[in-house]
Amino acid sequence: MNKTIPYGRQNITQEDLDTVSQALIGDYLTQGPLIKEFEDSFANYVGANYAVAVSNGTAALHLCALALSIKPGDKVITTSLTFAASANCIRYCGGEVVFVDIDFDTFLIDLDKVETLLKNSPKGTYKGIIPVDFAGRPVNLERLKKIAVEYDLWIIEDACHAPGAGFLDSYGVFNKSGSGKFADLAIFSFHPVKHIATGEGGMITTDSEDLYNKLLSLRSHGIIRDQSSFQNSIIQAGGNISDTVYPGWYMEMHELGYNYRITDFQCALGISQLKRANVGLEKRNQIAKRYDLAFQNHEHIKSPSLEIDANFRDNHAYHLYVLLVEDRLGLYNHLKAKGIFAQIHYYPVHLMPYYRSFGWKENDLPVVEYYYSRCISLPMYPTLTNEEQDVVISTILNYYR
Ligand SMILES: Cc1ncc(COP(=O)(O)O)c(C=O)c1O
Repeated sequence: MNKTIPYGRQNITQEDLDTVSQALIGDYLTQGPLIKEFEDSFANYVGANYAVAVSNGTAALHLCALALSIKPGDKVITTSLTFAASANCIRYCGGEVVFVDIDFDTFLIDLDKVETLLKNSPKGTYKGIIPVDFAGRPVNLERLKKIAVEYDLWIIEDACHAPGAGFLDSYGVFNKSGSGKFADLAIFSFHPVKHIATGEGGMITTDSEDLYNKLLSLRSHGIIRDQSSFQNSIIQAGGNISDTVYPGWYMEMHELGYNYRITDFQCALGISQLKRANVGLEKRNQIAKRYDLAFQNHEHIKSPSLEIDANFRDNHAYHLYVLLVEDRLGLYNHLKAKGIFAQIHYYPVHLMPYYRSFGWKENDLPVVEYYYSRCISLPMYPTLTNEEQDVVISTILNYYR
């Protein structure tokens, strides 16, 4: 084998290149019509009323935290099994991050433990919760929503791993991640290893018109152009005493916002990639099934994917395919020596030195810490060929022989 195999990679087709080229020679590089087109297509894809495209997934999280008015000292619950950004957005607003352990069967935030935490604290102690659809498996938001209503919490669903995934609710309705039905806001990332790539890029989806308008304002400096909302008078804006309309150039900044905009040509790529999203999902599920078959009943390897029930597994987005293995470091190095670059998702966020400085320490979250000691993410991306996957599988099986 002379080619290396990464754990994830983007897939850029001729159609993508043509679409981006068209955008590049058009009138807009940024803030053009393709942003709204991408937003509308994406909202439609996940079944939400509104979508706001932004510069990356972290910016999406920050904007959500601002839109929900996290204040210094506000306690917000999240999982430690995630990329640091899911927790960091709370800190950007001065909030306190409260990590809850994961469920050993799903690796998602443990909703029993969330309920226990909430029951044992006075109502109002916690403001919100940020569950993560880890690896592409959606959180049961129907149950979480009931908890959120009881304890007056908002929900930001971190769905970076799960565009196109979804769960069947108790009425048998299929709800896609980010559908806006249960969570107040949901966020996605378009980093190259994700399902849809725009280079850097992110999206927020919601069913709330108020939050949507707030996000649009915060995305671009808190500046508004709608003259019916202007606060200064026409004269203060530079008009004449006899004028009935504001000068054409005039706009107002109403709150402290940011530049978290995405460009038009990135959205061109997003639009083109979104058209193939379902094909990519299907391929990821096929790859997962082949891994499942290869590792079932193995003495040293546990494939959590095998334990996903029949209803659920068809709706898994398989951003990651994770194994729990003995001698993880040995296997990782063995694969690397053979040109196979597996990854570890994730070092528990609560044990990062930054979060240790708030008092988090070993054994605070035993399930996630056990998970971390054994997890390894195998190559998983739609262009991974059967031949390449067979090399990955045989290299792993040979290691334990
Ligand atoms: C679960 C999760 N949340 C948030 C992010 C942040 O997204 P981005 O890298 O686009 O800022 C990522 C991306 O790595 C992620 O995997």
